Amino acid sequence: MKEFKFDVEAIRSQFPACRLKVDGEPIAYLDGPGGTQVPQRVLDAITGYLINDNANEGGFFGASYRTDEVENRAFAAAADFLGCSPQEVGFSNASTQHSYNFSVNIAKTMAPGDEVIITEIDHQCNSQPWRRLGELGFVVKTVRLDPETKQLDFDDYLAKLSDRTKVVAINWAANAIGTITDVKRYIDKAHEVGAVTVVDAVHYAAHKPMDVKAIGTDVLLCSPYKWFGPHMGLIYMDEKLLADLSFNNAGAEDIAEGSRKFHMGTPQYEQMSGMIEAIEFIASIGEEYAGFFEEELQGLSGRRRNVVAGMLAIDEYEAPLGDKLRRELRQIPGVTLYGPADGEPRTPTVAFTMDGHAPDEVTKVLGDRGINAWHGDFYAIYTVEALGLTESGGLIRLGLAPYCTEYDIDRTIETLREIAGA
Ligand SMILES: Cc1ncc(COP(=O)(O)O)c(C=O)c1O
Repeated sequence: MKEFKFDVEAIRSQFPACRLKVDGEPIAYLDGPGGTQVPQRVLDAITGYLINDNANEGGFFGASYRTDEVENRAFAAAADFLGCSPQEVGFSNASTQHSYNFSVNIAKTMAPGDEVIITEIDHQCNSQPWRRLGELGFVVKTVRLDPETKQLDFDDYLAKLSDRTKVVAINWAANAIGTITDVKRYIDKAHEVGAVTVVDAVHYAAHKPMDVKAIGTDVLLCSPYKWFGPHMGLIYMDEKLLADLSFNNAGAEDIAEGSRKFHMGTPQYEQMSGMIEAIEFIASIGEEYAGFFEEELQGLSGRRRNVVAGMLAIDEYEAPLGDKLRRELRQIPGVTLYGPADGEPRTPTVAFTMDGHAPDEVTKVLGDRGINAWHGDFYAIYTVEALGLTESGGLIRLGLAPYCTEYDIDRTIETLREIAGA
């Protein structure tokens, strides 16, 4: 078989932002875990919708018919992205909104003393709504992050699980440190005690293909703005749970069915248009590289097959680039990396500190040179706390996307070396 070679320039040519420069250098977008750039087709779809199809749904005129169509196409595209049926997905402004909405509605089925399990590796999105339930008399237990391995402590999880556990809210990939958790193991155990599972896949979804049925979760959250789409949230809910659960949705509860139960008021049609094209963009990568992944793609067809192939190709490109980044960071005096051990499942998101330099000081120097990177806790506040880094300003985070290049990394390493005085 031919050697896998990813045409990064072909990808970059589709992103107008990749043409922007600071002091003559192309901007290095290493801020992907906070949100990626968008290809032209996403921009065109959003403006195209607002010019040609802008209306509310359900009316008897052209733009409204087309708006109905946009919504149906968005359900179908999201279903191909997740591996479920179009009736099992819904949209809102953000995953955090979905998380709050779901927690409030499932709480109606719970009794005081019932238990919820969250984790130290999660973003606030998948912990704070559940922590709030503590105020209503529910018991909230937190699974510990092992600060040595940077993995969740499965034994601690098993010890916390009980026949009073009603919800397990868990993270698939850690946005702060890149750790990937074997969520199926946690979901299977949760189901043994009859608990409902919520998987935060917001970070994972940008780097790996997903199959919600294979992991068997009841609910999954992800956000298209992390994978080339517009700012919005996407929720999957298994159809059985969806049928059973009632939602408080601004009076729409009695009229909305299936995943439309999630919609609070008028949905974001223009963002849906953009999201469809983000998924088509991933599928277009898959079409190009599917030949390299025949084994993984067995049994899949159509756009679902291309989406999975696209994510596999993105991973195949990003992972070695992430390895290079970590290897070179380790050579810089005073740099400490925080993430799973080499060889453990992870995303190409690399977190570190530099002796004698606060994280915000470092990202400011990078930012001045057109190297976009984040510092702090990234709302993974319990992770940063567990690592003992809260007082010192948290972490510096460099995250890769398929439009990032070796040159971006070289330029970043050179700047970090200068900061370190190496
Ligand atoms: C792992 C993870 N979960 C949840 C969120 C929040 O997503 P949203 O902004 O769509 O609420 C983020 C955003 O950075 C994230 O990285």
